[in-house]
Amino acid sequence: MPEYDGFPDGFFDRSDPSPDPEFYSWPRLVTHIDDGAIAAVGELYEELGLDGEVLDVMSSWVSHFRTSPRSLTVLGMNKAELDANPHAIRRVLHDLNATPALPFPDDSFDAAGCCVSVDYLVHPVELFRDVARVVRGSGPFVCTFSNRCFPTKAIRGWLATDDGQHCAIVAEYFRHAGGWDEPTVERRTPVHHRGDPLYAVWARRLASYAAGRDRAPRPA
Ligand SMILES: C[S@@+](CC[C@H](N)C(=O)[O-])C[C@H]1O[C@@H](n2cnc3c(N)ncnc32)[C@H](O)[C@@H]1O
Repeated sequence: MPEYDGFPDGFFDRSDPSPDPEFYSWPRLVTHIDDGAIAAVGELYEELGLDGEVLDVMSSWVSHFRTSPRSLTVLGMNKAELDANPHAIRRVLHDLNATPALPFPDDSFDAAGCCVSVDYLVHPVELFRDVARVVRGSGPFVCTFSNRCFPTKAIRGWLATDDGQHCAIVAEYFRHAGGWDEPTVERRTPVHHRGDPLYAVWARRLASYAAGRDRAPRPA
């Protein structure tokens, strides 16, 4: 498992280290957060203007947009789940724990999201860095999560920490990855909300990031 400064040994281990395709081989056509938390995701996406060509990583049959983006690509592990996503126009099966590099060219998307799934990533920094590669301009990457998970597939560091620490962990992923401005952390459901809490950590891609990337020289 990767080691990053500031994350203890074993942080990214999981109690079920079997390949993810086995665990996600059957479709789970369920919602993983309640209606209030789903509404909070949609409201945030609208507030941040997630539209145009948008990538939803670790996606399923729901992407929680109030209004479908013009072109939504969903990437996940289960074909039947992705096929059932009514917002999507492109569906990509891809195991981010086997290969954190995204199968898209540079500058492919205006924005990206990851809903209630960041806790399953064993190479999060590599993924966050690659999202900065495939997002263009100062597009946002929005990570939302609640307080539930599949515990055998969540990383040990997530299971050992609380909601506030989860926000700090995701913010550190953005900082370690580079390519992003200082992340914003917010609890999007009210403090005394009785349902699932919804937390969000997002950052905008640094407009200067493209200059630092390895690219073939452009013709004069
Ligand atoms: C809790 S569900 C969340 C699904 C959806 N984002 C939502 O908001 O309901 C976790 C999702 O993460 C995806 N996932 C888990 N491990 C993954 C991996 N290694 N690579 C890509 N996607 C993965 C699964 O396909 C699954 O649909």
